[in-house]
Amino acid sequence: MAGSAGDFFSLEKGKTMKALVVFDSTWGNTEKIAHAVASGIGGGARVLRVGSVDAARFDGIDLLVLGSPILGGRPSPSMHGYIDSIPEAAARRLQVATFDTRLMMRFARIFGYAAVRMADQLKEKGCALRSTEGFFVKGRSGPLADGELARATEWGSTLSMT
Ligand SMILES: Cc1cc2nc3c(=O)[nH]c(=O)nc-3n(C[C@H](O)[C@H](O)[C@H](O)COP(=O)(O)O)c2cc1C
Repeated sequence: MAGSAGDFFSLEKGKTMKALVVFDSTWGNTEKIAHAVASGIGGGARVLRVGSVDAARFDGIDLLVLGSPILGGRPSPSMHGYIDSIPEAAARRLQVATFDTRLMMRFARIFGYAAVRMADQLKEKGCALRSTEGFFVKGRSGPLADGELARATEWGSTLSMT
């Protein structure tokens, strides 16, 4: 099954997973979650802002985690563009996970979730999806809801398990 999603779920036991967390953020809430996720993944997971990272370069990366605020039910245009620019050959070798930051209000559900849309976009490219998650902010500019940083670290640690 060379090049298929299955390869990545059978990473050699004990091998350290190399992870890259790419985020977009206006007010810093998604950025904080991105760092918490990376600390949960461990192993020196890198964190980069979208726009500062070349989507064509995934040398040695096993796990790509993408995070965006929800804007009208969607990821930010920059994050959408970033996913769009990942070459399909690279996508087929990547495990991915997505998260968003979102409002707690009930109306937010009507518009849908950026994490789910990003996951769909990545799956269409041929990526192997590990997980999607949402983290809550108390208002548009934040702050993060209580306990969300700890939950993000915990989610990251589940991603590091092969
Ligand atoms: C124009 C705009 C549209 C938004 N649309 C949604 C939405 O559809 N659903 C939702 O839960 N939150 C929505 N939000 C709230 C954002 O998710 C929130 O501002 C974001 O989590 C902040 O993240 P940041 O600090 O990383 O920029 C919207 C915010 C803005 C500014």
